[in-house]
Amino acid sequence: MGDEQFAGQDSAILAILKTTDEVNQLKDVDTILDKILYESRSFANADAGSIFLVEKDSLIFSFVQNETLFKGAGANAALYQNFGIPISEQSIVGYVAKTRKSLAIDDAYELDVTLPFAFNKSFDEKSGYRTTSMLTIPLIAQESRLVGVMQLINAKNDMGKVVPFSAEARSYIPLFCNNASVAIERGIMNRELILRMMQMAELRDPTETGAHVQRVGAFCAEIYGTWAARRGHSAKEIKRERDNLRLAAMLHDVGKVGIPDAILKKPGKLTDEEFDVIKMHTVFGARLFKNLTSELDHMSMEIALCHHEKWEGRGYPGKVQPDIWAEDVKMGEPINGLDIPLGARICAVADVYDALASPRSYKEPFADEKCLGILESDAGTHFDPEIVEIFIEIFDVIKAIRDKYKEQWGG
Ligand code: C2E
Ligand code: SIN
Ligand code: SIN
Ligand code: FE
Ligand code: FE
Repeated sequence: MGDEQFAGQDSAILAILKTTDEVNQLKDVDTILDKILYESRSFANADAGSIFLVEKDSLIFSFVQNETLFKGAGANAALYQNFGIPISEQSIVGYVAKTRKSLAIDDAYELDVTLPFAFNKSFDEKSGYRTTSMLTIPLIAQESRLVGVMQLINAKNDMGKVVPFSAEARSYIPLFCNNASVAIERGIMNRELILRMMQMAELRDPTETGAHVQRVGAFCAEIYGTWAARRGHSAKEIKRERDNLRLAAMLHDVGKVGIPDAILKKPGKLTDEEFDVIKMHTVFGARLFKNLTSELDHMSMEIALCHHEKWEGRGYPGKVQPDIWAEDVKMGEPINGLDIPLGARICAVADVYDALASPRSYKEPFADEKCLGILESDAGTHFDPEIVEIFIEIFDVIKAIRDKYKEQWGG
């Protein structure tokens, strides 16, 4: 919708249809939110915006863009802020969630005192940003389910001056949002399906939350974004690849479903024989995706198979013999360096970092310095050195992801 001219109704509706179609091709909920917010902001020429998703009786902050405060496609810790707002008339987003009607405000600092809600100035106070015009829209999916609320901030005119949202924006963006809400629900469902699969595969414990899997997916998405931006890849291409990588990375250990509990949950060191059994989780995972054809399946297969390969070789499973389907499949000749698929090189760093920083049945969590020390000393032997370098460069984002996906409420 962004690049087009809106001479009249028809072109606006065509643009909405085209954008809706693009949104429908995305799979992961974060990529879907990113796209919906970006397109809505482009339509209204809005400087900033955020999306809140409904969880129980709250609106959970789920996505943000701000052209003034954080430019470009780089890794961004602000995305992983962790807070909720009650669905009540006291806040603007809560009010819109309750009334289910979009609401345009020309100046957030000049609200009529008779209104039930107040503008929360704390974000502006912390950031130095000045919020003026706002367009807040309920996200409603089929059967009138409330999925969340989108808030667009500071519409600008051609001169870059902040102005009220236009009549066109007020009527067309809610239209687009109705379709977008369906895509958001689908994205949430995809994520939940993967979390359930992973719970079966490796946690086998109904009290576990899947936070580890969410963290590894998010770490990989951010590492990849920085890796690809360094190479000047287009924002569109980065988004598509990142969408696949995030989901595929969440599935890296799905093959653990084939490993007996007695080994997987052993409270202590494994014997060599037991570790040989564990190694098979790479092959079991690869089998799940091998005969499937989408880009996501292909990437999931590569990551499941290769996430324990090492940069200098000596990882596993190597070139398995005779092939992954054989009942007597054997680990093979090592692969190394750039022969290891990029997604697997990224996932190796993300997965080991999270294993180091988290408790396991066989170890205590390590402090950050110790984790980073291990990554740095193994850069160039275990890990692709550039991936470790990027990981350290974006460590503030990594920490924000850890704060967001803590064990208690990651799933
Ligand atoms: P995991 O627990 O998710 O660990 C993933 C990877 O993180 C490990 O791959 C290893 O490269 C790294 N890692 C984990 N803990 C440490 C550590 O204390 N120090 C260092 N330097 N690296 C660490 P790896 O070794 O191929 O293990 C694959 C999986 O096998 C592990 O996944 C875990 O499920 C299982 N496993 C490995 N060792 C043991 C063990 O001693 N006891 C038990 N019960 N399971 C183990
Ligand atoms: C676990 O079994 O605790 C998670 C292993 C992993 O995904 O790295
Ligand atoms: C999880 O809770 O999802 C896995 C265990 C961990 O990361 O410590
Ligand atoms: Fe693994
Ligand atoms: Fe893992």
